[in-house]
Amino acid sequence: MILVTGGAGFIGSNFVHLWLADHGEPVVTLDKLTYAGNLSNLAALEDDGRHHFVQGDIGDRDLVERLLHEHRPRVVFNFAAESHVDRSISGPGAFIQTNVVGTFNLLEAVRAYWAELPGEDRRAFRFLHVSTDEVYGTLGPADAPFAETNAYEPNSPYAASKAASDHLVRAWRHTYGLPMLTTNCSNNYGPFHFPEKLIPLVIHNALAGTPLPIYGDGLQVRDWLYVEDHCRALMRVAEAGAPGETYNIGGWNEQTNLDVVRAICRTLDEMRPRTDGGSYAEQITFVRDRPGHDRRYAIDAQKIERELGWRPRETFASGIRRTVRWYLDNQQWVDGVTSGAYRSWVDHHYGG
Ligand code: NAD
Ligand code: TYD
Repeated sequence: MILVTGGAGFIGSNFVHLWLADHGEPVVTLDKLTYAGNLSNLAALEDDGRHHFVQGDIGDRDLVERLLHEHRPRVVFNFAAESHVDRSISGPGAFIQTNVVGTFNLLEAVRAYWAELPGEDRRAFRFLHVSTDEVYGTLGPADAPFAETNAYEPNSPYAASKAASDHLVRAWRHTYGLPMLTTNCSNNYGPFHFPEKLIPLVIHNALAGTPLPIYGDGLQVRDWLYVEDHCRALMRVAEAGAPGETYNIGGWNEQTNLDVVRAICRTLDEMRPRTDGGSYAEQITFVRDRPGHDRRYAIDAQKIERELGWRPRETFASGIRRTVRWYLDNQQWVDGVTSGAYRSWVDHHYGG
């Protein structure tokens, strides 16, 4: 079986669903259920005997050691993290606690477990650390996309905390020989994406008839990947990646924020036209820029394509259509996650 940390969040829950659909091998999900973790993301698995959910913190070494010894996973996928750049600017403490100290404690628990595994299990064991392209910093318009050999130059508290966790993972490999793999992926989108991030926020606000907030001039560039493509890449890395290696994951799909928002508006205009006959694009509003806002991210995915034969299945056009459709069909999920704590964040961050 496998252990998935952060499996009640956006990417983790997509991963658990896809894993159980593709593999059938049992999954234990460990998640603290912060504001970003929702058990409703895993509701479809409630009666599935192959899935076992445990609420807890990756930083709780005793709990993690107990889980490892009880369930004896052959792979640990570490998704658990604080993940929102804007929140890391307002309150970086939680990012240091989970992404740095939490990852350290998780690594120590895994090291103790791995050290006691018998020969073949020990050789086959893998720890896959899920990270981000934001550790590489920002690119100029003519710069080559991020390759695995780029220097780390994190700019936000979020990116710095993820960079720190990547360094810990690297050191645990180099010093203790743990069979680690690290992946650095570009921006994801798709079902179960918490509506504080750009794409689900814009879909949510568009339908609610409220402004679609674009930071600064909206010409910042991100490299968007449909979440299931990311999940399939992680499965492939766990299956065939070389321990100690890092793999950049991306879909060669750079878009400005403004183009992304316009694409969502066009899709909504077609699938759920506004009752007044106007376009959702009329709701676009330019707001104050994010402090230290990285201008451009782009991934060079040649290594994972060449060495592991991974390719994304979705284009941006098909992925956005699937995503918008999912949000239209799952308004109950959106209503559930946009209650109390979500509203205080929106008031605090966008207020005024
Ligand atoms: P998310 O915020 O939606 O989910 C994070 C999950 O981790 C939540 O369920 C939360 O409850 C849980 N969690 C937080 N702190 C925890 C702790 N101390 N112990 C146990 N669980 C804890 O994030 P996401 O977008 O699904 O991202 C998952 C991972 O992928 C993160 O490591 C992130 O850095 C990385 N990543 C995200 C993106 C993206 O575009 N979203 C891109 C590349 C990499
Ligand atoms: P986000 O989804 O927060 O991901 P990240 O900051 O990790 O790339 O933001 C994606 C881009 O969209 C980023 O350039 C910031 C911008 N953005 C807005 O313009 N308005 C918003 O309300 C949000 C949340 C993000």
